[in-house]
Amino acid sequence: AMVEKGEYRHFMEKEIHEQPDSVQHTLSEYLDLVTGAAKPQAVDFAALDRIQIVACGTAFYAGQIARYAFEKLAGLPCDVEIASEFRYRSPAVSPRTLAVAVSQSGETADTLASLTWCKAQGLKTAAVVNVHSSSMAREAEVLWPTHAGPEIGVASTKAFTAQVAALLALAVAAGVARGRIDAATESELVKALFESPRLIADALRMGDSIRAVVQDLAKADDVLFLGRGAMFPLAMEGALKLKEISYIHAEGYAAGELKHGPIALIDEETPTIALAPLDDMFEKTASNLQEVAARGGPVIMITPERAPDLHGAGIRRIHAPDCHPLIAPLVYAVPVQLLAYYTAVQKGTDVDQPRNLAKSVTVE
Ligand code: AGP
Repeated sequence: AMVEKGEYRHFMEKEIHEQPDSVQHTLSEYLDLVTGAAKPQAVDFAALDRIQIVACGTAFYAGQIARYAFEKLAGLPCDVEIASEFRYRSPAVSPRTLAVAVSQSGETADTLASLTWCKAQGLKTAAVVNVHSSSMAREAEVLWPTHAGPEIGVASTKAFTAQVAALLALAVAAGVARGRIDAATESELVKALFESPRLIADALRMGDSIRAVVQDLAKADDVLFLGRGAMFPLAMEGALKLKEISYIHAEGYAAGELKHGPIALIDEETPTIALAPLDDMFEKTASNLQEVAARGGPVIMITPERAPDLHGAGIRRIHAPDCHPLIAPLVYAVPVQLLAYYTAVQKGTDVDQPRNLAKSVTVE
């Protein structure tokens, strides 16, 4: 069936707004809202000693976010690699490794080749894919579907949050299977994950406060995104999104890495966007932002309303919904996507079909 934009100006805008539903639908594949339990999986997580995620672009960032959860919740070492590197470097893999390809299309050439290579090494394989009839879905032993529905915009949005939702839910399942999570914690985490559709809907109401900063952002030549923990890969995803559709140069960095180089870029013309949920890393991120502000760099801080005021001149705040740390990457994905979207609209670029890009990269 043909997908239409309806009331929206672009497919990307429509797809950003579909995320409460696509995340809900995807979580329901892996978690039971009624019992508060993770559903049993075809993979025996207790028999694994490693997870190797392979992906490209936005799916790679979803994998990096998942790594924090697999290691923290399941005590399962997790490597995440760009497929175009993985497939050509003869990686050393242990036999009890689960290889997981993450892909919206399920057709990305490098990711598919990496999956095929892992299978040939005798590894157990799984694919987190949005197109359930795709090559990767057929190639992998285990299909872990996302339920984002067709994604038309070249810049991935709802497929990304669906990948993150699926992988976070699977990390909970892995934690249970490996005896790392007791029943009470399991139901707390499942409940937290099922709060994300409502909080994503709340985050969609940040549009007005985001539109208020894009005038300045659209004038910038370079933008820095900062975060710690799972907000670090989300910062890189934010930078990719801005690059893809607004053609503004942007980089995502771990906030703690700032003083090791990127702080040299800071001046009055270089905005820093900070992803600062109120978690146990907040104070550390806050002190990095004060360093940026002290050097005259404009800061846009995405943070909950109850977060302490940093009193730095040049630090603007955009208030995001307060949430459980596990789901922060799902909730904070929304302002990151809206920033890129409204900046691109402000610049008048072709949001759904940005120059030089294809939706699915099936050639090397
Ligand atoms: C995301 O906005 C991109 N256009 C791109 O990085 C994409 O995520 C990448 O090409 C991977 O595609 P896939 O998920 O279909 O494998």
